[in-house]
Amino acid sequence: MNKRILVTGGAGFLGSNLCGRLLEQDHKIVCMDNFSTGSWRNIAPFLDNPNFSLLKHDVTEPTLLDIDQIYNLACPASPVHYQADPIATLKTSVLGALNVLEMAKLRNIRVLQASTSEVYGDPDIHPQPENYWGNVNPIGPRACYDEGKRSAETLFFDYQRQFALPIKVIRIFNTYGPQMQLADGRVVSNFIVQALTGQNITIYGDGMQTRSFCYVDDLVSGMVAMMNSGADVVGPINLGNPEEFTMRELADIVVEMTNSRSRIIHQPLPIDDPRQRRPDISRARQSLDWNPNVALRDGLVRTIAYFEDMLAEQTRAAS
Ligand SMILES: NC(=O)c1ccc[n+]([C@@H]2O[C@H](COP(=O)([O-])OP(=O)(O)OC[C@H]3O[C@@H](n4cnc5c(N)ncnc54)[C@H](O)[C@@H]3O)[C@@H](O)[C@H]2O)c1
Repeated sequence: MNKRILVTGGAGFLGSNLCGRLLEQDHKIVCMDNFSTGSWRNIAPFLDNPNFSLLKHDVTEPTLLDIDQIYNLACPASPVHYQADPIATLKTSVLGALNVLEMAKLRNIRVLQASTSEVYGDPDIHPQPENYWGNVNPIGPRACYDEGKRSAETLFFDYQRQFALPIKVIRIFNTYGPQMQLADGRVVSNFIVQALTGQNITIYGDGMQTRSFCYVDDLVSGMVAMMNSGADVVGPINLGNPEEFTMRELADIVVEMTNSRSRIIHQPLPIDDPRQRRPDISRARQSLDWNPNVALRDGLVRTIAYFEDMLAEQTRAAS
């Protein structure tokens, strides 16, 4: 059945990809965004679609809408952006969660929280299963995001226990793909833009820290599967690609695939940067029958093509 679905943060990277998928499925979408890190370009293809409506609104302010489901994605996700105004980031996570939960409670509808692998902090166990409680510095520069997302999870589970609210919580691991910003600041977009523009490719630390990278189409499939899963599937559930790469390996692959002449240089490691990250996705496999299908090189082909277009647009606009 077609639903009226609220996507907070719908003009962002994941949000706009999710809106696109839900529109393909003939749902009616309300995209709520304050455009702090989202972009008009991401939602431009939907503006003529009668099933799409845009609500320029800050999720920290309460509102009540006539809807059937909520995906709560509003929050800056890249360290450069979430650390630029840490108090706003914490407020977005906590007050945003509270506001969507109140709306879901009044409507008695499903609400999905886009949580993050950052709740595991710099993990002591590897790969990270959902029952690992994490190793987060509560007062460091990343805490506004990590602790904000942890508090949001607490609120979700308290609403479930106190009001029997149908919640869904996913923990997203590094995801990449089209609709990321040129100056997004995350590693895949940084490396690609640096490689395409011939700038030095900056690796923080020795480059031996690891991450796993999920292509956005796979992630969106997992998100939608989670929202529509059985009532007993509440989460938290890890969503990500368990294939693990060092930053050095990723940089080498990007340089090779872009035929770049960029040099790889090293800069100091940021404070509290996790050494390794890889999701244990057994729960997602069992409960959602979900598996990431797009291999890193295949996802990079599409992502590099997207950034080439973005850079060409930027050059045309400047001339
Ligand atoms: N992309 C990833 O790898 C990743 C990993 C883990 C978790 N997540 C989570 O997924 C969600 C989306 O991430 P993304 O990568 O698309 O980031 P993004 O920065 O591209 O998108 C976030 C969107 O939220 C909007 N927003 C921010 N604060 C808001 C507010 N107060 N009110 C209304 N809108 C607001 C922004 O304008 C933007 O459109 C975030 O909650 C993030 O924590 C993403």
